[in-house]
Amino acid sequence: MFCGKIYVYLFVFFYSVNFTLQATSLNYYTGAVVEYHPIVEGKNTTVIAEENAKNFIKFLHTAKENQVDIIVFPENGLFSGQPRPPIYRRSFYLPHSTYLPDYKESKVLCNDSASSVMEVVKTLSCAAKNYSMYVVLNVHEKEECKNCSDGYHLYNTNIVFDRNGALIATYRKYHLFGEVGFDRTPKPKLSIFRTDFGVAFGQFICFDLLFGSPALSLVREKNITDIVFSSRWFSHLPYLSANQIQAGWSYVNDVNFLGSGYNSPVTGNTGSGIYAGRNGRIIDIWSETPTNALLIAKVPKMTNGKRKEPINQNATKIINYSAIEIPTITRQKSISQQKLWSDNLSLFTTDFLHLTNGTHNATVCHGGFCCNFTTDIVFHDHLLENGALYYRYHFAVFNGVLSYAKLGKAGVQVCSIISCLTQDSNNCNKRFDVNTNIVQPVTFNSIVISSTSEDSNNIVHFPLSIKSEMDPLNINEFTFVRKKINETHVSLNYSFTKPYNNLMTFAIYGRNFKDDDFL
Ligand SMILES: *[C@@H]1O[C@H](CO)[C@@H](O)[C@H](O)[C@H]1NC(C)=O
Ligand SMILES: *[C@@H]1O[C@H](CO)[C@@H](O)[C@H](O)[C@H]1NC(C)=O
Ligand SMILES: *[C@@H]1O[C@H](CO)[C@@H](O)[C@H](O)[C@H]1NC(C)=O
Ligand SMILES: *[C@@H]1O[C@H](CO)[C@@H](O)[C@H](O)[C@H]1NC(C)=O
Ligand SMILES: *[C@@H]1O[C@H](CO)[C@@H](O)[C@H](O)[C@H]1NC(C)=O
Ligand SMILES: *[C@@H]1O[C@H](CO)[C@@H](O)[C@H](O)[C@H]1NC(C)=O
Ligand SMILES: *[C@@H]1O[C@H](CO)[C@@H](O)[C@H](O)[C@H]1NC(C)=O
Ligand SMILES: *[C@@H]1O[C@H](CO)[C@@H](O)[C@H](O)[C@H]1NC(C)=O
Ligand SMILES: *[C@@H]1O[C@H](CO)[C@@H](O)[C@H](O)[C@H]1NC(C)=O
Ligand SMILES: *[C@@H]1O[C@H](CO)[C@@H](O)[C@H](O)[C@H]1NC(C)=O
Ligand SMILES: *[C@@H]1O[C@H](CO)[C@@H](O)[C@H](O)[C@H]1NC(C)=O
Ligand SMILES: *[C@@H]1O[C@H](CO)[C@@H](O)[C@H](O)[C@H]1NC(C)=O
Repeated sequence: MFCGKIYVYLFVFFYSVNFTLQATSLNYYTGAVVEYHPIVEGKNTTVIAEENAKNFIKFLHTAKENQVDIIVFPENGLFSGQPRPPIYRRSFYLPHSTYLPDYKESKVLCNDSASSVMEVVKTLSCAAKNYSMYVVLNVHEKEECKNCSDGYHLYNTNIVFDRNGALIATYRKYHLFGEVGFDRTPKPKLSIFRTDFGVAFGQFICFDLLFGSPALSLVREKNITDIVFSSRWFSHLPYLSANQIQAGWSYVNDVNFLGSGYNSPVTGNTGSGIYAGRNGRIIDIWSETPTNALLIAKVPKMTNGKRKEPINQNATKIINYSAIEIPTITRQKSISQQKLWSDNLSLFTTDFLHLTNGTHNATVCHGGFCCNFTTDIVFHDHLLENGALYYRYHFAVFNGVLSYAKLGKAGVQVCSIISCLTQDSNNCNKRFDVNTNIVQPVTFNSIVISSTSEDSNNIVHFPLSIKSEMDPLNINEFTFVRKKINETHVSLNYSFTKPYNNLMTFAIYGRNFKDDDFL
């Protein structure tokens, strides 16, 4: 296990004593995540990856100027090219995928002429070394195999370089999001790496976040306190938008979470952030239009379940790159806002929330699971002149099995109040165009959602929320309490008490892995 003594020992070995004392004695490290709008057109993925790598080095350069210790790049960010249909043809990927040595060798790939690693991966190993920074990247990895269909395993893999450019960790995505050309390992593997600043990180990729293993196992079995997450997330309304679920995951597990997102408004991909669990969201970005940005924050280290210092929002930075600095953002057809996907609510029990002033109680049930709602509303009906557009609200409750993106069945348990374009519950998974004028006649002075659920390691409940700018409520704006009430059950209570007139989602979103049926 991770231990202070071993640490200092290793340090004295490899680094100057001064640096050792400084890096390990600080109460924080400097983390960075990249929101990257990649190149999608090019001769082939090898050429595309080399172009993307040039841009990655620009991020590293800025990161170095800001003393960043660790930087995370998004899923598909480097090997971003989209093949023509059939989309997930293996034969398309194989020539443009890299071999990797076993990370246990901690091999420095930079300028290693003997290895069959792709040049672009070596280039980025050199960059990690040159900038003396931990670098987390997502690549396409191939591995020869005997007795398999075409002689290879092909993986969606995260790799980690240390400050010397040594490959110190690899993680092969387990919960593939319909990426049929890729293989996965027979079982999810937990990937953990230790850093010279005294923090051990766990890692996983995108869709993995919605499952028990490896994501939750890192925290529950290995006591991991810091996560690096690379994603190309397809945001859905009302529950599964990128920052909303990143913030929720970080909160529930009380871990520091460095989430990097692929940026592509046309397909519905955005959302990066750095979150400090129960100490709150440090910095995040949701962009409606093509964006290249670097987010930098001081992340308070955790010891014995506590952060040694509060988060410091003053020490954060968002650096937006212009189209001159990183030209990729001019290549996509212009779009005025992010595309958003819709969760299918047809199987939920929904109930219109009547817009009358005052406090109201409601109980809504589905599949033997009941949620109590207490709302305190002021309805400013004078704002409704001339057919103004505004959000209405529904209660929406679910307990059972849903099809996740038609890929498989997932156990889900939800209590929620969600915004709708009209009085019809079919419109509760959409938003008004960000460029239209809407009025906000509904002020929630407070909402309390309460319920009871089974107490099981197979069920996890996330407090989720978004306001109309797609940003989640911050930590001091809500309370979420999960409490054991008897041998078998817990009570759940999610509330806020500060008035909001721009609420979109307020939900307890439960995942019940016991009912999952994938692949
Ligand atoms: C990718 O395209 C470049 C430029 O045309 C070419 O030199 C290279 O051989 C191609 N790579 C592969 C693996 O086909
Ligand atoms: C790697 O090789 C290149 C080209 O030969 C050289 O310029 C560079 O300094 C080398 N990098 C390292 C870190 O040794
Ligand atoms: C190496 O880093 C320095 C700054 O520390 C930068 O000026 C230089 O361009 C970098 N070289 C490469 C090859 O990335
Ligand atoms: C090779 O695959 C075949 C068919 O899937 C299987 O019957 C056989 O046992 C495999 N051989 C080895 C050595 O794994
Ligand atoms: C995690 O922490 C618990 C409680 O402090 C401890 O009992 C357990 O051994 C730790 N597990 C690991 C893998 O370190
Ligand atoms: C960077 O761009 C994002 C998204 O376009 C925007 O929300 C943010 O305000 C910008 N930040 C700065 C510092 O310009
Ligand atoms: C952050 O800046 C604000 C306003 O400048 C200041 O009041 C506050 O004390 C600062 N917080 C920290 C933690 O430095
Ligand atoms: C939503 O789910 C229902 C019930 O499973 C199904 O009939 C319907 O086709 C789905 N709608 C969409 C848009 O996928
Ligand atoms: C709503 O429920 C709460 C808690 O159960 C109760 O205290 C309150 O009196 C109820 N309010 C109304 C208007 O029924
Ligand atoms: C609710 O209260 C507000 C402010 O007191 C008032 O302007 C509004 O007309 C009331 N709404 C209804 C529907 O009575
Ligand atoms: C929900 O409300 C009902 C009726 O007021 C009450 O009997 C039940 O205990 C409440 N459940 C929770 C979890 O608050
Ligand atoms: C525990 O509480 C739940 C929810 O109130 C109830 O359904 C269940 O019967 C209770 N179990 C025991 C053993 O008391």
